[in-house]
Amino acid sequence: MSISFNVQGIDAVTFGVTSRTTAAKFLDHWGLKRLKSGKYGANYICADGTEVNFRDHKSKTLPKAIQSGSTVREVIWGVEKKSELKAIAEEFLKDRPVKVLKDGTLRLVDDMGLGIGFRVSQRKELKPKPLTYNRPGDDVRIDTPATFYERAEPQTISHIVFGVPDYRIIEKFYGRIGFLATDRYPGRGVFLRAAKRGNHHNLFAMNIDAKKPVFNHLAFKVRDIHEVIGGGQFLNKQGWKTAVGPGRHYISSACFWYVQSPFGGALEYCADEDIMTEKWKTREFEVGPGIFSEWTFNADADFKAPTASSKEK
Ligand SMILES: [Fe+2]
Repeated sequence: MSISFNVQGIDAVTFGVTSRTTAAKFLDHWGLKRLKSGKYGANYICADGTEVNFRDHKSKTLPKAIQSGSTVREVIWGVEKKSELKAIAEEFLKDRPVKVLKDGTLRLVDDMGLGIGFRVSQRKELKPKPLTYNRPGDDVRIDTPATFYERAEPQTISHIVFGVPDYRIIEKFYGRIGFLATDRYPGRGVFLRAAKRGNHHNLFAMNIDAKKPVFNHLAFKVRDIHEVIGGGQFLNKQGWKTAVGPGRHYISSACFWYVQSPFGGALEYCADEDIMTEKWKTREFEVGPGIFSEWTFNADADFKAPTASSKEK
């Protein structure tokens, strides 16, 4: 009988940073809730409990870095049940060490050299208020002004993105535990979702002209496009620079705003991403203008959009 894995998504991301003061300032502005902090670093959460942590980049508690300076050091994936952790451990123990903690949490290193883990998800179910958008023939918001966001409150972690020497290695590694290609740039990159039913992508890997992987960005879901814009504007007002945005992706349909962060890549607000099921058929795209975004403003010349630096393999 084949094992059915059902990884729900990213449960926690830990960064190593060169300046803990700057990192804390950024995450405070980003809108995450600070749970604890100290000399060692800090732990933050989104509205649903998914975590973002940082430690000093020289901390011995962190897994090895894939690149120097500030960068992501560990990605923890969430599963529903403890039995799934056992199945994942069995799979990866075939060819690498897997550390099993008392609570069943797993820790290992993936095939790009990144520290990863798996645990029973700490994600809480969100219960948002119903949408009240007025449209011709369907006016539902009456005598009530619409919602305005002075700043964003990230609801959950959406996806993480890496530039890698060969995306096929990443697709093969995560495919062992059920990750599926939602869309693909053949020969150049793949959008992977962790389970059959779920977010358009939890992990995007694209080829870059480098021998080592590079963290590109980490994305957070907010409630709607207005919160994307409210959040981006607030970050700019605090002095943080836009990487690219606001805009709207063609692949995944999401509205976005990427901000340059002190974490070695950008952080992204996104809203209204596509959700897929087992009925979805993988699409293939050529890298080109109009694919990264349907529309966008404010692209910083230094920001490497996830397709701009791809190379043919
Ligand atoms: Fe993204």
